[in-house]
Amino acid sequence: MTMRIHNLLANMTLRVRLLLAFIGIVLLVGGLSALMGVGLLYRTLPHVQDVLAVDLGAAREIYRQYGAHIADAGRLMARRRNIRENLQRGDLDSLITPLQAIRQSEDLDILMLTDVRGDLLLPLKNRGQRIAVPGLATIVRQALRQRKEVSAAVVFSQAELAAESPELAERARIEVVSTPHTTVGEQTDASQGLVAAAAIPVTSDDGELLGVLCVGQLLNRRTAVVDRIKGGLYREETFEQRDVAIVSIFLGGKRIATTAASAAGDRAVGTLIAEDVYKHVLLGGERWIRPGYIVDDWYLTAYEPIRDPSGRVVGAVGLGLLERKFEETEHSAIAILVALTILAVILATALSYVLAKSIMKPVNSLIAATEKIAGGGSLEAIKLDRAPPEIEALGRAFNSMTAAIRARDQQLHRQTHDKLMRSDRLAMIGQLAAGVAHEINNPLGSILLFSRLVIQQVPPQGRIRENLDRIEKETKRCHVIVKSLLDFARERKPLVESLDVNEVLDMTLKLYEGQFLFQNIQVVREYGTQLPKIRGDQLQLQQVFMNIVLNAVDAMNGRGRLVLATKESAPAGFVEIAISDSGCGIPPENIERIFDPFFTTKGVGHGTGLGLSVSYGIVQSHQGDIAVSSAPGAGATFTVSLPVAEGTR
Ligand SMILES: Nc1ncnc2c1ncn2[C@@H]1O[C@H](COP(=O)(O)OP(=O)(O)O)[C@@H](O)[C@H]1O
Ligand SMILES: [Mg+2]
Repeated sequence: MTMRIHNLLANMTLRVRLLLAFIGIVLLVGGLSALMGVGLLYRTLPHVQDVLAVDLGAAREIYRQYGAHIADAGRLMARRRNIRENLQRGDLDSLITPLQAIRQSEDLDILMLTDVRGDLLLPLKNRGQRIAVPGLATIVRQALRQRKEVSAAVVFSQAELAAESPELAERARIEVVSTPHTTVGEQTDASQGLVAAAAIPVTSDDGELLGVLCVGQLLNRRTAVVDRIKGGLYREETFEQRDVAIVSIFLGGKRIATTAASAAGDRAVGTLIAEDVYKHVLLGGERWIRPGYIVDDWYLTAYEPIRDPSGRVVGAVGLGLLERKFEETEHSAIAILVALTILAVILATALSYVLAKSIMKPVNSLIAATEKIAGGGSLEAIKLDRAPPEIEALGRAFNSMTAAIRARDQQLHRQTHDKLMRSDRLAMIGQLAAGVAHEINNPLGSILLFSRLVIQQVPPQGRIRENLDRIEKETKRCHVIVKSLLDFARERKPLVESLDVNEVLDMTLKLYEGQFLFQNIQVVREYGTQLPKIRGDQLQLQQVFMNIVLNAVDAMNGRGRLVLATKESAPAGFVEIAISDSGCGIPPENIERIFDPFFTTKGVGHGTGLGLSVSYGIVQSHQGDIAVSSAPGAGATFTVSLPVAEGTR
């Protein structure tokens, strides 16, 4: 599985990777913020309910103020001097006109006056009777007892309303309209009326209780209360041509006053309260704040019971806020978040495209340049315009690499050229020398033979003998030189055997160590351990090392430090033998010529100039190489590289 992902990743272009990274981040952030946004919205939903609870409190307060306003009207009457005086005097007839005037101006539906026992004084037709409406009777009793005004909601039956006036009974009548999520129950009596009533004690100037004034306003179909509540709380907010807020007053489970519109366009009175609300608010007497169905739509609703003077729940005040409006806010918030995320994805795509392009452009030109070089093209420096610093650094590294390769190329070229020249030269000299040596070798032999014969015939003392000895000695020297020349020129096939270079070096040194020549020379061996074997001719190689060592001793004038180091080359394949001395060193102008035959800086009779050229020939025939490095006064190092014998390790 992880392998698969690896492969998948490996096959992706930089552009796709960038794109995926960007989109991943955007989706992550976008998704998270969308989730958070939705979470936040849902967390604010209870918050809406809190607002509703506060609104419900405010609604009840406005409703209470409305009741107080009716009580005010009653108080206005009760304070009137002429009313109090006439009542004190028992002159009921002269009371009627002023009371009727106020009743008219304050739009009161109920107006009664009782004596201090609570028996009716007005209306005149019922004089002396008890108040028939139980709720009204209760608040009058309370007002008498407490000597202060009492207001409450009072339920009037049809008969009780009709007793006031037939017109009132007619106004109160509201037939039940069935709507979804409601049931027509026994709770609804079409003809009942809910009256906001107040009982106000009337007292004389000196505080004597004279009677109780009882006023009331029928709330059925009365729009003033609900409109005032709605106007006070929500103004005229609408959503999709629908009022956002609905305020209703219920008698039993029936809407008797409301701001909700019916299908016909007038007020939706007569519609019923939702079933569960009925259960909890009307029957249970609780507050209720929940989403619910009102008339024809879902609302966030809040209900508060209305109680009559005896404490019985007779109705409710209800508020509703259109749920769709909140949903709509929620949906539009989510829609905005989603739109933003999509926009961000598009932007990220574009951005990653541009970014990848800006990265890939210099990279592509790098690739092109590399391919050109790999294909044998010239080593040109590339120019990267406006590339990111990292890639610019890559470009710089690339340029310094091409520069280095160019320099090395040139050096290699020079070296091979030099080498070719040298081996050409050596081959030519070799041929010449071989020819000459061959021609000279036989006469030299004759000279030596005949001079020996002559020597035997002359007496051991005397000038002649001395000269003959010199002839023999010089001839021998010539013979040695000619032999060296032949050694150098001859195509020798080395005798091949497996050799340990350390051992070969030791054997070479053993020949000389302890001799006078080496008395003042410190020999240091820095042999590598576990060196691979080489294949070669032991005697020939010994000759090579000997030549180099003797040159070193010469250069050090018999006093100094000789270091012999061996190691395997890196990369492997060769064993390197480095022989360093602390001698006079080789001046640069001589370095190229020291391998030439007969090149010597030593005086006549001291050097033949053949040691290094012979060594060179031997090493070459071993498929090896010999190199020298030196600085004048700082000694010289000769490094012989010999190929490792295959299969030895
Ligand atoms: N270790 C060395 N230090 C300084 N010069 C050297 C060294 N080895 C060789 N040379 C120089 O290279 C020359 C050639 O050496 P070689 O071919 O052995 O001839 P010869 O030793 O007979 O002079 C020497 O004359 C000397 O000038
Ligand atoms: Mg020499």
